[in-house]
Amino acid sequence: MNFAARITGTGSAFPKNRVTNDDIVQKLAGLGVTTSDQWIRERTGICERRISDNGNPSEYNSSLGLSAAQNALEMAGKTADEINQIIYATCSPDTPLPSSACWLQHKINADNAWGMDINAACSGFIYGLSTAEKFIRTGQVKTALVVGAEVLNPIIDWEDRNSCILFGDGAGAVVVERVHSSSSHRIIDSRLRSDGHLWELLHIPAGGSNMELTPERYARKLNKIKMKGKEIFKIAVKTLCDFAQNLLRKNQLTPEDLDWFVPHQANRRIIEAVANRLQLPMEKVLVNVDRYGNTSSATIPTVLDEAIRDGRIKSGQTILLDAFGAGLTYGAMLIRW
Ligand code: ACO
Repeated sequence: MNFAARITGTGSAFPKNRVTNDDIVQKLAGLGVTTSDQWIRERTGICERRISDNGNPSEYNSSLGLSAAQNALEMAGKTADEINQIIYATCSPDTPLPSSACWLQHKINADNAWGMDINAACSGFIYGLSTAEKFIRTGQVKTALVVGAEVLNPIIDWEDRNSCILFGDGAGAVVVERVHSSSSHRIIDSRLRSDGHLWELLHIPAGGSNMELTPERYARKLNKIKMKGKEIFKIAVKTLCDFAQNLLRKNQLTPEDLDWFVPHQANRRIIEAVANRLQLPMEKVLVNVDRYGNTSSATIPTVLDEAIRDGRIKSGQTILLDAFGAGLTYGAMLIRW
């Protein structure tokens, strides 16, 4: 078995509704909570984000995933019936059952595929891509579709100014195809890890099988994200650096060998701190957190898609993806484009 996996198409999709920091300032003022455009920009680098219209089927999680997947298939020159596997990374699925992968399969008519979801929060896309790559390398899958999509707004507590300013909705997707292992254009290596002891730093208490959602729990917002932002910030900077350095070292590379660094888009200050520690100039770092906020599993495929479509990423370049998320989960991946 001499196979490797190569990304041959990328796509993204966002809801129409553009919500600026000033819109959030007004929304929170109505709830008696104070924030400002200046605070949000300075502490996070976020200027605006997209928020889904939750009653609108065209902006369901799986519908954003569908548009992103269609764009990726078009770039790859593939049709839906050529997909053998759908891996859908999300922590905000349309429904607990069936999986988002099955919703997408139904909508896109990928009748020759099997699919499953991965919930690794913001690391989900790298977990998904790494999983697809393993199936492709063993020869079991020829063409995979990996999606990272979120509609986070229903699980955000709009009275918690620490967290509600950060998140946005959106979807990214990639088509991954089997190539010969001698191909220089391929996924080179990846590294995944999780630390469940840190579950409390970002979690949703109710709505699962251990705490059914009742009117009383709903009123206490136990179905919304609880986040310890400061603690996450420190761990994120350290772990993103460790992961990047370890993966580079293992592959006899240094940060200087990278053409592009693609970090999870949680906060511009986290991104800058990591780039600084890796001694990477910001010109080599892809950023879209300013326009979309933290879209969790969608940040990496959407920022990647943007840079491919506008020509910044070129054939033969070396790219490092690097993410952390609730769990806590961590993942990094090296790609030769
Ligand atoms: N507007 C105005 N003031 C605010 C706001 C706001 N929106 N939010 C917090 N503040 C205040 C705080 O109350 C605090 O005031 P105090 O000093 O009077 O107590 C002050 O600003 C400073 O608060 P800090 O928590 O120290 O602010 P910090 O600079 O750490 O920024 C933030 C907070 C943005 C949450 C940051 O810590 C962060 O981005 N952390 C990472 C979070 C993250 O990445 N989460 C996603 C994880 S990935 C996933 O799986 C989804």
